[in-house]
Amino acid sequence: MLTYSIDIKKSLISKSKIKEVDFKDLGFGKYFADHMFVAKYKEGEWISTEILPYGDILVSPAMSALHYGQTIFEGMKAYRNVEGGIQLFRPLKNWRRMNTSAERLAMPPVPEEIFMGGLIELLKIDHQWIPSGEGESLYIRPFYIASDTFVGMRPSNEYLFIIFTCPVSAYYANPVKVKLEKNFIRATPGGVGYVKMGGNYARSMLATELAKREGYDNVIWIDSQEYRYVEECGTMNIFFVINDTIITPPTSGTILEGITRESVIELAQDLGFNVEIRRLSKEEILESYQQGKLQECFGTGTAASISPIIKIGYDENIDIQLDDPKNWKYAPQLQKTLNAIRISAIPDRFHWIFPIS
Ligand code: COI
Repeated sequence: MLTYSIDIKKSLISKSKIKEVDFKDLGFGKYFADHMFVAKYKEGEWISTEILPYGDILVSPAMSALHYGQTIFEGMKAYRNVEGGIQLFRPLKNWRRMNTSAERLAMPPVPEEIFMGGLIELLKIDHQWIPSGEGESLYIRPFYIASDTFVGMRPSNEYLFIIFTCPVSAYYANPVKVKLEKNFIRATPGGVGYVKMGGNYARSMLATELAKREGYDNVIWIDSQEYRYVEECGTMNIFFVINDTIITPPTSGTILEGITRESVIELAQDLGFNVEIRRLSKEEILESYQQGKLQECFGTGTAASISPIIKIGYDENIDIQLDDPKNWKYAPQLQKTLNAIRISAIPDRFHWIFPIS
């Protein structure tokens, strides 16, 4: 196990809020564990690392992140394993991805010692917040923001890196219905589609709200050049099963490099399924549906895990309606295996698990 030596100042709560939590109805993102980790960067140096009670932070109205959007984040989960221990799933991938995002937004990298050392300490302190029910976990939200009090436009000289956590259950309680988005575009080549930044989520909200008014949960984003190729689905990467082949688009700059996406690809290959990473046009999806070859569709993400998609609004006249996911072959098996690895119910042959205690 990797260990990190980092000096963290600690001011801990005197009484936990955990009794106020309804663990039978966790939902997603509404409860917050007792503590948070805060690291501060100023003019070329990380000047402090601290664990303190979870709570509001005081910021200047002129704070750079609020105006110019130098704000990035990660989504990770801690699990309680079958023996009661606690563990993370591929956390170094999140650390690396956060620094890929940071580089694109001209922010200094967060050192591994700070990202991982702060997270491990935080989890050790708030370990009782990690739920153990089926499909439950402690969602971890590291985020990194420009904190200069300066209204001129330039990369900030000061930054805050913060981690807080929330006990959660499923992000989507039911199979998802999505609409193929034709009016709005999420990402363009040379842009920031692969960056986990606030702006990518902000720009997708209007399209999602409009789709919700039509009875969908979210949208499928298509490419900005030919308006044909599927890219992502809401906040998830997307997979289709056509003719017993699992197909997902290559990330190539406009798509988030999902860690669940990558794990699902590796797992599917390991289970002996056919996997193709290639562009997939909306016309191919419709044609395969009309020919009875479209078997499954699902989204992947840290929050959403593997979420079946049962309906795709193709256009005003055509809804692609898939069979009940209970009858599917691929997504349920991938979900079951991935869940079992996450809680060490089966051996982790891939070395994805990072034990904490
Ligand atoms: C995640 O899957 O971790 C995300 O960041 C998506 C967010 C909308 C919860």
